[in-house]
Order: sequence, then C-alpha cells, then structure tokens
Amino acid sequence: MDEDKFRAEFSKKSVFRQASSLDLSYVPDKLHCRDNTVTELIHNFRRIVDEDEQPSINVLIHGKGGVGKTVTSRFFGKNFHTIALEKDVRIFKEYFNCVNFRSKSKIVRELLGKYTHGSGRGFSDDEALKLILTQLIRDKGYMLLIIDEVHLLNPKEVWAILDIAETFGHQNAKLSILLISRTKDWMRIETERILSRLNTKIKLNPYNIDEAKQILQYRSDLALKDGTINEEIIEMIGQIVVNHENMRHGIEILRKCGLYADKEGFNAISADMVRQASNEVYPTFRGDIIDKLNDQELLALYGIAQSLIDKETPYTIVDDAYEQYRTICETYDAETHVKMSYRKYIRQLNQMKIISSKTVRIDEDKRGRHLEITLLDIPPTKIIELLNKMFDKKFN
Ligand SMILES: Nc1ncnc2c1ncn2[C@@H]1O[C@H](COP(=O)(O)OP(=O)(O)O)[C@@H](O)[C@H]1O
Ligand SMILES: [Mg+2]
Repeated sequence: MDEDKFRAEFSKKSVFRQASSLDLSYVPDKLHCRDNTVTELIHNFRRIVDEDEQPSINVLIHGKGGVGKTVTSRFFGKNFHTIALEKDVRIFKEYFNCVNFRSKSKIVRELLGKYTHGSGRGFSDDEALKLILTQLIRDKGYMLLIIDEVHLLNPKEVWAILDIAETFGHQNAKLSILLISRTKDWMRIETERILSRLNTKIKLNPYNIDEAKQILQYRSDLALKDGTINEEIIEMIGQIVVNHENMRHGIEILRKCGLYADKEGFNAISADMVRQASNEVYPTFRGDIIDKLNDQELLALYGIAQSLIDKETPYTIVDDAYEQYRTICETYDAETHVKMSYRKYIRQLNQMKIISSKTVRIDEDKRGRHLEITLLDIPPTKIIELLNKMFDKKFN
C-alpha cells in the first residue's frame, strides 16, 4: 500500500452514520422496552431526592448475559443525575465493572483518590471509606455507586459493601448502591445475610422478537445511514437475538456487517453478511450436527439452501424449497418424499436449530398463511458446499 491508496481507502463512502453508537459502553438517549425496570429503579431511589434524610438504598439487577442490565443501569444513572441536579441534589454517580476492579479495596482506593486526592496508602478499607463518606457530607453530595459483574468479588466483600450504611450509620452514609450480576453467578453468592441488606431485586428477562426488533431498529437508525438495512434483515437479526436470548449478539452483528459492507464497498447489509457475522460472533453452527441427520433431512436442507441462493431473499417458502429438494433427489437418484413428509423434515431441522422457520399470515393466499424458512448462522453456499461433498460420497 502507498499513501494514495491509503487516502483512497479513507475517502470511501461508509454505511455508518455514527459507528461509536455500537460500542459496548454507549448509552443511548432512549431506552426501549425497559420502562418497567427504569420505573422500578426510579421509585426505589427517588427518596434520595425527595427526602431530607437521604436514605441509603441497595438494589440488585440480575438476569442472563445480554439482556440489557448494564445499559439499563447506566441509563438510569445518567438520567437520575440530571433530574437530581434540577432539584439541587448533587449526585455523584460512579460505575465500576469488577472485571477491571477485582476487589472492594480496588474500588475504595479508586474512590478515595478521586474524592480526597489521597492515595490511601496505609489506610484500611474502612478508614478509607470513612474519609470518602466524610468528604461527601462536606461536599453536600450523594453517591450512587453502580457495581457491575459484582459476583467477581468475594461474597464477604459484597456483604461489606451492602453493609456500609449499617457500619457507618445511616446519617453518615450519603451513599446508595446498585449491584449488577448474572442470575446464575449471583445465586452462588447470595445468602440470607446479603438478602437482608437488599431493598429490591429486579430481574430482567430476555427480549421477545417484537422487543428485539424494536431495539435493533432504533440502534441501526442511530448507527447506520438510511437505506443500509431493511426490515427483513432486522427481523433476521432479531431472530438470532431471540434464539440466543442475547441482545449483545444483535449489536455485534450490526457492527460487523457495517464494517464488512464498508470494506467491500457495499451500501447495504445482506442476509449473507448477517449469517457470516452471526457465526463469527457466536459460532453455533457445528459441522458435527450435520452428521446426525438422516438422508431425507440432508436432502431437505439442501433444498432450502438452494432455494435461498436462487431467490436471493432472506427467506424462502416450503413450495420453493420443495421444488429444489425434488431436483436434488433426482440428481442423486434418491427417493423423493411427498410434501407432507417434507414439512416434517423442516420441523426437525428447525428443532435442531439448523434452520429457523416461522408461520406468516398473508391475506392474498387462499390458505391465509405460509411458512418462512431461513438459515441464521451459516451462508447457504457453505451448506451446499458441505452437502455436495457428503452426497458425492453417500449416493455414488
Ligand atoms: N433496551 C435496550 N435498548 C437499546 N440497546 C440495548 C437495550 N438492551 C440491550 N441493549 C444493547 O445490547 C447490548 C447488551 O446489553 P448489556 O446491557 O451489555 O447486557 P448485559 O449487561 O445484561 O449483559 C449492549 O450493546 C446494549 O447497548
Ligand atoms: Mg453487563
């Protein structure tokens, strides 16, 4: 590469409007589909702003990975800070992820440095905490401490953090705590003692398909230029999010597809780009699952892949896939089964998560509905390649 080529690459058109909005730490202005959670947080913490005593409140948010725990907490922190300021309450919000801060000491030292400019060397955690709390009172401030991935701390430390108000006295602790953890990890550290210090536990459930689509639409509107992505592609990514119960995969797929489109000079995201990105983000397609399929299922899968390639649309329907299936059966002199049986193979492939299918209502059709079928994590050309090799061995 030389400078001219470097420059040319730089001045290429991009599908991104704001690529940074897909960064993991990005907090969007609007938070879709988490109204209940945010409302619950508001009603738990509003006493800090409403009451003169400014009580100390401890809340836990838990749920699986990628259900929006971090983004919801940060969204809450940001807006709570703004609203409090309007009511003349100075909220200092501090966010720590225990991936980076592996002990209570590390967190306390960081806060001490920030609020008292001391290194805290020679102090115990409790002495350091006392200095911080005193400084908060002096500053007429109040701290909202958000601690993410809190299960990475030792349970004793989690207890100690939740117990700060008791240890130092409620009137001295101008501090509330929002803990975040995956449900499974939290269950390992939860005890009666810890529970007794929590005001509320809020569970976040995975998004359903409508929610996933709404969020993906909003996030792509922020990140990508108009016309880069269409509804069918959003639906497809939404399906992947729902299958994995993880919104992070969806955001990562958007980001990867955008980068890929820019690199290859495309101005829109295609179904194949999504499949490729999906398999990179979360390799679900295991070659060995193919070995478990019987001949008819393999031929059925071939029909689906081939008709996806022919139609160049994200989805195909049973009739089209069946036509391709018949052709491939003839090619290899394999037994051709009736469409009823073919539907059964599709259901089986669906159950094994090799394909994804769903029933869609259509008004023009006399039967009123049809089955849309697609591949979510492997491009159809790859499947065909794989199956061709198998069939050559099997049927010749
Ligand atoms: N309701 C939502 N609106 C917009 N983006 C969301 C929403 N929920 C999750 N996301 C995005 O999905 C990704 C995963 O969410 P995150 O908060 O990191 O999940 P968790 O902390 O539960 O693992 C992040 O990029 C986040 O911005
Ligand atoms: Mg998180």
